[in-house]
Amino acid sequence: MRSLPAALCCAALLACSRPVSEPAAAPAAAQPAAQPAGAAPPATDAGSVVAADPPEAQQARAELVSQIETLERPWGDPRFWDPKVLSALRRVPRHLFVPGLSLAAAYADVPQPIGHDQTISQPTVVALMTQALLLTGTERVLEIGTGSGYQAAVLSLLCREVLSLELVEPLGRAAARRLAELGYANVAVRIGDGYQGWPEKAPFDRIMVTAAPPALPAALVEQLAPGGIIVAPVGVIGQQLVRWTRRGEKIEKEELGPVRFVPMVRPGAEIRR
Ligand SMILES: C[S@@+](CC[C@H](N)C(=O)[O-])C[C@H]1O[C@@H](n2cnc3c(N)ncnc32)[C@H](O)[C@@H]1O
Repeated sequence: MRSLPAALCCAALLACSRPVSEPAAAPAAAQPAAQPAGAAPPATDAGSVVAADPPEAQQARAELVSQIETLERPWGDPRFWDPKVLSALRRVPRHLFVPGLSLAAAYADVPQPIGHDQTISQPTVVALMTQALLLTGTERVLEIGTGSGYQAAVLSLLCREVLSLELVEPLGRAAARRLAELGYANVAVRIGDGYQGWPEKAPFDRIMVTAAPPALPAALVEQLAPGGIIVAPVGVIGQQLVRWTRRGEKIEKEELGPVRFVPMVRPGAEIRR
């Protein structure tokens, strides 16, 4: 059994180290606009999805999840692992979110470049952050940082609705198209600034931030429902993965361990990179 150190500062848990150069295998910019709030996604073509998920991919995915499963009680939480989280990871075809990568690369337990100087997070980190949200199936979840759409797809199997914000328009459009084509009908993607949240759709039962702000954005706290949970990496140097829980007037904070994510940027800053 692999043990996870009490602190999450090991290479295996680097969530989103920035790629050295722009990858050749970036997803193509999508033609359709990202889903506006409330718009119905196109119907799923289940046949083509099955064809795109051959036995080799399913096998690679099963092996990856078995590896993740051998991490021993991350954060000392006796409830680890939630079988529903592992089942969601087994069901989402990660390779279809990183077109151009080999199956081996798609199912390696490392972050991978997705273009625009951004990454899809390491599968173990996706699992840990998903688990940290303590989903029961009824929640409306706000995700900041759609990226490839993979994390949104995993969440969508574990909650009622996912609303995902992405600052980089080509990434958001491609992810929206991909999620719709793969039939993740309870996910909506909007191009927007995560620092502002999605006030028209608030309050949210859960909020997951997949890029690191220097500190928790106030708008996200305002948009959190009573009893709600936010999971986010925060900090510039020496980031921490933190879980906040709203209890009445108070917000309880738990530091889950050190991580490394791409920064959550302000609108305009992404154009200069
Ligand atoms: C580590 S990647 C997210 C990975 C993604 N969740 C996935 O499953 O592929 C971080 C994402 O956050 C986005 N981002 C950075 N700053 C943002 C902001 N202010 N608002 C919304 N998205 C932002 C980046 O463009 C990038 O796509």
